[in-house]
Amino acid sequence: MRVCVVGGGGREHGLAVALGRTADVVVTPGNPGIPGSVATPPEEIDADLFVVGPEQPLVDGLADRLRATGRLVFGPGADGAQVEGSKGYMKELAADADLPTARFGSFDDLDAAVAFLETLPGLYVVKTDGLAAGKGVLVTESLAEAIDDVRAKLSGDAFGAAGRRVVIEEGLTGPEASVFLVCDGERAVALPPAQDYKRVGDGDTGPNTGGMGAWSPFAAEPPDLAGVAVDRFALPTLAALRARGIDYRGVLYAGLMLTPEGPKLIEYNIRFGDPDSQVVLLRLTSDLAALLASAASGDLTGADPVTVDPDPAVLVVAAAEGYPSSPRTGDVIEGLDAARAVEGVEVLCAGVGLDDQGRLVTAGGRVLDVVGRGPDIAAARDRAYAALAEISWPGRHHRTDIAR
Ligand code: AMP
Ligand code: GLY
Repeated sequence: MRVCVVGGGGREHGLAVALGRTADVVVTPGNPGIPGSVATPPEEIDADLFVVGPEQPLVDGLADRLRATGRLVFGPGADGAQVEGSKGYMKELAADADLPTARFGSFDDLDAAVAFLETLPGLYVVKTDGLAAGKGVLVTESLAEAIDDVRAKLSGDAFGAAGRRVVIEEGLTGPEASVFLVCDGERAVALPPAQDYKRVGDGDTGPNTGGMGAWSPFAAEPPDLAGVAVDRFALPTLAALRARGIDYRGVLYAGLMLTPEGPKLIEYNIRFGDPDSQVVLLRLTSDLAALLASAASGDLTGADPVTVDPDPAVLVVAAAEGYPSSPRTGDVIEGLDAARAVEGVEVLCAGVGLDDQGRLVTAGGRVLDVVGRGPDIAAARDRAYAALAEISWPGRHHRTDIAR
């Protein structure tokens, strides 16, 4: 099978490695660190299966355009992509499907928003309705700060059009989990859960990022989380989507909060998580290309069960100076070969480019994903950090407490 992966970050590198075990893989546009990268647009590529990585092309209807020309695509159409493209849509869907989730309201008017905030018990969450690259969420114990944030978002000053409608939620507490649900429109298969580290600094301090590290399995993982994610979240969600006329074939990424009352949905994304899916994808031993092709064809009934290597995977992101606020680009990356020579280690390329001398340089905030695997968490973590110590560029930073 020939598979075309669309996208060009660490997630797509992880997908390419996992799919490449059983398929020929081409990645568009990819990046200079992902083997098989081509500049050809997806519409002009000949492949048996298209796997779309990021949310934006899905929101923009790439899956619809490819399907219209008879291609087999893993990824929802623009209709299903609203699940991530609008937080308000996602919350209404969650209500229709009766999913356990935080109490919420959706507002474009300041007074109504403030009145709702005043009814919440003391942990306030304010989100932009539209896509804000993972940066549009405030979680605070201060009502005054929440109100200021609503005002800034609604005014359009903070996030432009994405913020002119806000979703306000009751704050939930507990460890978070990421579960990737491979969906065929009606049925779902869960991949093993993972957990990511969203704050930039050790001990979960500093601003939110797209993710600074991940591990699978993770310490707080309840034994049947994958089963609960299918039965209590994915299946009712797919039914609610079908009731809206949406045939959702792609991944539903459930961001769950493991609260004292059980898992609750924080959000759905319509794509694999980055970097949380990389630790899952690298552990898979079953045929990912066949699984995603079955889902894309609308029939997971005959798919082989998902199997994984029991060895844990620990991923540490090496970030550029200034990430997340203003990452510096163009720094030469050294030590990649030495890092890759560490036993049990894979290094995935996320935000990388080439300079005019053909050297690999930083080209984004999250530059490399260093993944260690080993017989236990400690071994996997030690390998990841040993490999990371081989890599350098000016201003590189990372968290030192991943999987600790
Ligand atoms: P989101 O963009 O919806 O994934 O939110 C980003 C992060 O904000 C999540 O990973 C959580 O850490 C936090 N968050 C979002 N919603 C809530 C909530 N209702 N309660 C507590 N934390 C939340
Ligand atoms: N790692 C979080 C995300 O992909 O949204």
